[in-house]
Amino acid sequence: MIFDTHTHYNDDAFDEDREELLSSLPAHGICHVVNVGASLSDCQQTLALTKAYDFIYGAVGVHPSGTTELTEKSYEWLKIAAKEQKIVAIGEIGLDYYWEEPEHGIQKKWFCKQLEMAKELKLPVIIHSREAAKDTLDIIKDYYQKENGGVIHCYSYSLEIAKEYEKLGFFFGIGGVVTFTNGKKLKEVVEYLPLDRIVLETDCPYLAPVPNRGKRNSSLNLPYIAEEIARIKQVPYEMVLETTCQNAKKLYRL
Ligand code: NI
Repeated sequence: MIFDTHTHYNDDAFDEDREELLSSLPAHGICHVVNVGASLSDCQQTLALTKAYDFIYGAVGVHPSGTTELTEKSYEWLKIAAKEQKIVAIGEIGLDYYWEEPEHGIQKKWFCKQLEMAKELKLPVIIHSREAAKDTLDIIKDYYQKENGGVIHCYSYSLEIAKEYEKLGFFFGIGGVVTFTNGKKLKEVVEYLPLDRIVLETDCPYLAPVPNRGKRNSSLNLPYIAEEIARIKQVPYEMVLETTCQNAKKLYRL
C-alpha cells in the first residue's frame, strides 16, 4: 500500500482528467492521499475532494507566498474548515524567502498564527520552508506542539538541520528531488534518517521524479521515489512502502 502525504489535485493541471486519474489510483496500490491547501480557494477545493473520494483526506492552511490574502475573517473560516472530519492537518504553512514578497514580517505573523491554530485544534502541521531555515526553526521552537506532530514537506536543507527537526519529532516528506542527479544533499539526509521518520510525497503536479522529471506529476510516480529510497538505505522496496505508509498513518492519525 502506498500513501501520498502531499498532493495538489485541485490544481488546474488536472482539470482535463482529474476524475479519471483519481479513480484509477486505488487500483495502483495508492491507499491514501492527503490533498494540501496552499490558498483559501485550494482549501475549499480540498474539502470538496475529501467529500468526493473515500481515500482522499485533506489539510487546510495558507502557504507563505499566499499570506497577503489572509485576514482575521478568513483565518476564522480556516479554523472552521479545519474542524471538518476528513481534515487531518494544518498546512501547508511556513516561510518562503526565495521570493521577495510577501515581506518576511507578514509571512512570520501568519505562520505563527496557523501554528497556534494547529495547537488549539490538536492537529499536526505540514511545514513548507525554503531558504528560511533559521527563522523556521526559531518559530517552530516557540509555537509548535510536539505531541501533535508534523512533517517537513519537500525537505531541502542540510543534514545538520535535519537533526534539529528529528529532535523535535518531525517526519520528513521525501519526493521527486531524491531521484534527481543534483539531489545529493537530500540523498545524504535520507541515508542518515531512520526509515520510521520518512513519508512519501509527490507535491503533484510539481516535482515529478526521474524518469518523468519535468512532466506533470501524480501519485502514480511514487514507486520511483520509493525505489530510490530503498536503494539509498539498502532495504527492500516493499519495506519502504510499508513503513512509510505506517508512518503517514501515525502522522495524520488514520
Ligand atoms: Ni505543496
